[in-house]
Amino acid sequence: MLKLRPQTPFAAGEGASSAPPRHVAIIMDGNGRWAKARGLPRLAGHKRGVDSVREVVRAAAEAGVGRLTLYAFSTENWRRPEEEVAGLMDLLRYYLRHEARKLGRDGIRLRFIGDRAGLASDLQMAMASAEAVDCAGERMVLQIALNYGGRAEILAAARRLARRVAEGELCAENIDEGEFSAALTTKGDPDPDLVIRTSGERRISNFLLWQAAYAEYIFTPVLWPDFGREAFLAALEEYGARERRYGGV
Ligand code: IPE
Ligand code: IPE
Ligand code: MG
Repeated sequence: MLKLRPQTPFAAGEGASSAPPRHVAIIMDGNGRWAKARGLPRLAGHKRGVDSVREVVRAAAEAGVGRLTLYAFSTENWRRPEEEVAGLMDLLRYYLRHEARKLGRDGIRLRFIGDRAGLASDLQMAMASAEAVDCAGERMVLQIALNYGGRAEILAAARRLARRVAEGELCAENIDEGEFSAALTTKGDPDPDLVIRTSGERRISNFLLWQAAYAEYIFTPVLWPDFGREAFLAALEEYGARERRYGGV
């Protein structure tokens, strides 16, 4: 069981906010390079990446983060070799089958964002039952972005709203940021405060384009399989020392 630690365990810098970020989103990158450096197949890197997922999920819940979004598979990742795509989907099946219940016992509620319809039907069922697992007092939402693309999500929201306008249910003038956010798969949930990308790449790769408009970004050279509790807490500490201005002074 996870220990309940409502207070932030990391030392905040001068003038920093002591509260942990409400929502942290991670672009888990570098599994392939981790494997290549060891002369292993790419899938071995993805497998080690699952160990990092376990460690970071636990660290985030203990640190008092309310929502953790992990980018597991993008709408662009279908361009990878069939064998790698199948391996990634199998790893997810394995994770859900073996860990969804334990996550629930630890107060971690699972949910998914992304286009489910494009996934295998058995996986869609596994996702639905993982989301339905009883949660012992919700401490954190673990949100997995699967077959997710920010542009596709924004387009789907635009279509949804356009249909409601055409049906006379909604007035075009009343589409504000709140209405638009509610039409996204994240349905008006709190936006990420912090986005972390591992592996040294400095790009968004179509992740949470709308939601991360005012997030803080941390890019670390550490490859995802080497990213663990310590690196995660160091990122929270760096976040805590930042000043967010939202366009003000
Ligand atoms: C991230 O690692 C995992 C996914 C995108 C699913 P990569 O597989 O992209 O690793 P690199 O970037 O090739 O090292
Ligand atoms: C982003 O990583 C997607 C995920 C982590 C799931 P990629 O490795 O696919 O991104 P690019 O292709 O380097 O931009
Ligand atoms: Mg990559």
